[in-house]
Amino acid sequence: MTLRKTSGDSMELGECTMNPGYQDATDGGSATDPGEKNQDLAEEYTQIKPYAGMPKEVLLLYSSQARYRVPREILFWLIVACTLALVALTVTVIALSPRCLSWWQASPVYQVYPRSFRDSDGDGVGDLKGIQEQLHHFEYLNIKSVWISPFYRSPMKDFGYDVEDFRAIDPLFGTMLDFEELLVEMHNKGLKLIMDFIPNHTSDRHRWFNLSRTGDPHYKDYYVWTDCNATAPKPNNWVSIFGNSSWTYDDLRGQCYLHQFLKEQPDLNFRNPHVRQEIIDIIHFWLGKGVDGFRMDAVKHILEAEHLRNEPQVDPKQPPEDVTTEWELYHDYTTSQLGLHDMLREWRAEMDIYSREPGRYRFMVTESYDYHEVEKTMMYYGTPQVKESDFPFNFYLLDLPQNPSGMWVKHLVHLWMGNMPKGQWPNWVVGNHDRSRIASSAGQIYVRVINMLLLTLPGTPTTYYGEEIGMENINVTDSQIQDPAGKYNSSASRDPQRSPMQWSDDINAGFNTKSNITWLPVHPDYSSVNVEVQKKEPGSVLAQYRFLSTLRQSELPLHRGWFCYVHADANVFSYLRELEGLGRAFLMVLNFGKESAITDLSSIRELPDQLKVLMSTKQVNSGKVLQKSHIPTEVGEGLLIQYSTHTRFNPTHPDQCYVSEKACYLSVVDILYKC
Ligand code: GLC
Ligand code: MG
Repeated sequence: MTLRKTSGDSMELGECTMNPGYQDATDGGSATDPGEKNQDLAEEYTQIKPYAGMPKEVLLLYSSQARYRVPREILFWLIVACTLALVALTVTVIALSPRCLSWWQASPVYQVYPRSFRDSDGDGVGDLKGIQEQLHHFEYLNIKSVWISPFYRSPMKDFGYDVEDFRAIDPLFGTMLDFEELLVEMHNKGLKLIMDFIPNHTSDRHRWFNLSRTGDPHYKDYYVWTDCNATAPKPNNWVSIFGNSSWTYDDLRGQCYLHQFLKEQPDLNFRNPHVRQEIIDIIHFWLGKGVDGFRMDAVKHILEAEHLRNEPQVDPKQPPEDVTTEWELYHDYTTSQLGLHDMLREWRAEMDIYSREPGRYRFMVTESYDYHEVEKTMMYYGTPQVKESDFPFNFYLLDLPQNPSGMWVKHLVHLWMGNMPKGQWPNWVVGNHDRSRIASSAGQIYVRVINMLLLTLPGTPTTYYGEEIGMENINVTDSQIQDPAGKYNSSASRDPQRSPMQWSDDINAGFNTKSNITWLPVHPDYSSVNVEVQKKEPGSVLAQYRFLSTLRQSELPLHRGWFCYVHADANVFSYLRELEGLGRAFLMVLNFGKESAITDLSSIRELPDQLKVLMSTKQVNSGKVLQKSHIPTEVGEGLLIQYSTHTRFNPTHPDQCYVSEKACYLSVVDILYKC
């Protein structure tokens, strides 16, 4: 190699050094400059070992020596190989991983009825600031998804389900600023806010209805109008959910309008494209504000048959003029009309536009009571090609009190599991603002076991405020009735389940500490049934709820494992939760019956002979070791048994087992994969 200096300070390609005394170390060649002085210098350089700070050119000469070059090349290729292997491994893990659960699957949904949750300003009615004050309660319960019943501007004929302005907050609940602050605060705490959305009807005080009544050309068909007499007969025999004809004559317009609920809740006309667009705009308005999802109210009522024919009577012999309640007609023309699902799917698609950012999925749940037609309910799941709601509410467990028994509960659970489209996600509701509290309808004795069922079944549990402490219905005298449904028929009043949340044994149970007014009476049991007291009791309903919701989140088999029936009789319903590859599984033995029971599960070969109770709803039984042939439970007792296993139950009992998305656990690398 030649080492030659060019004119100036720059180097020429192929030449390496400005160091006149350098001698090529690899070929042992002589110094380039023959001068005597230079020779001395060259000798000097060959004595020197490479050192940091040595001129680059000299270093380069050293680095081309085999003893430096070979290890360097080995290292280089090793790094390339490792990088490729890592990329391949990452791609494989991603390709094999099952879908992560979305937020609406990972956490229970907690329903807040805003009038009754917490009153921050002392006017007797709960408000948005009140909810914000209590956000720590959701964190305490390990709940991330909160559905808040309507807080739009409303004349409150149906307590917010009659909306006067879909873009405004009712002053009773606060201001838009309060809402925005609440949302920010919830998001800061990792909580999601689900709003109630009421597409079927507006309030009769809504601007659209006022314009429609006057026959404004743009708005005249925003509602369902038809010619009729000022007095009877009505245009047809359709009846409102709250009783009596669903038609009301309007003096101003001289026609009748349709209302499937109160006369103050006129039904929108979804056959009008402008109405459809209005609703989409409102969906955008709230999604743009950042809300995380919608509970779509009363969806089956959205469309009605245009021909307005009479609906068939359940009892054809009944005099037509006596038909006044929804139970006396088959709702062939007022519910579940063709086109309904197209509309919901369109709304879903709008929501998807806002769901693209990671972690910002917008959730949709539909409310539709199609009790005896389960396949109608299942349609709200959409199809594998077209998404609709993430799930329709599952109300079957609300029927549990009718016949508390192990077999009945299994039947109700199976109604959903046996009919749900493959791969979809189940959900369970045991209470809401329309139904009697479970502690009252089923009995306090079953409260804990029902919560245990709710939190250990596969899918998303929904908890109505107060169920986590076992709140009961209040007694409401006729003069105290607030609910319009109760004014029509006092036994249908929904006030009893809407009483103020019981936070403490303070004044008004801590619901409102600023005055002595509450819009409905507080339940007299509040001094013992309240959050503060139950926080201090290790075995309380609240403590058990919290334990189970935390366990559900931390235990893979509980939130995404197989669900298999193992036993059901007059008292006990028993099932297990397991995941392939994971040596930990859970057996549930729940007594919904009227007697204590001994359950013999010795025929279940996959279970170990001895079983240790991780948690019993009867605290004294937690930690007990039982024989699988002899599992005692008392009435209303639930056992959560954790056991170790290498033999799974589901492969040999496919007809008793369900899973939404099959996943297996690889303990060596601690990952889940599709299997
Ligand atoms: C839903 C609500 C109910 C309301 C009705 C009319 O069923 O849950 O409370 O009265 O819709 O909007
Ligand atoms: Mg309608």
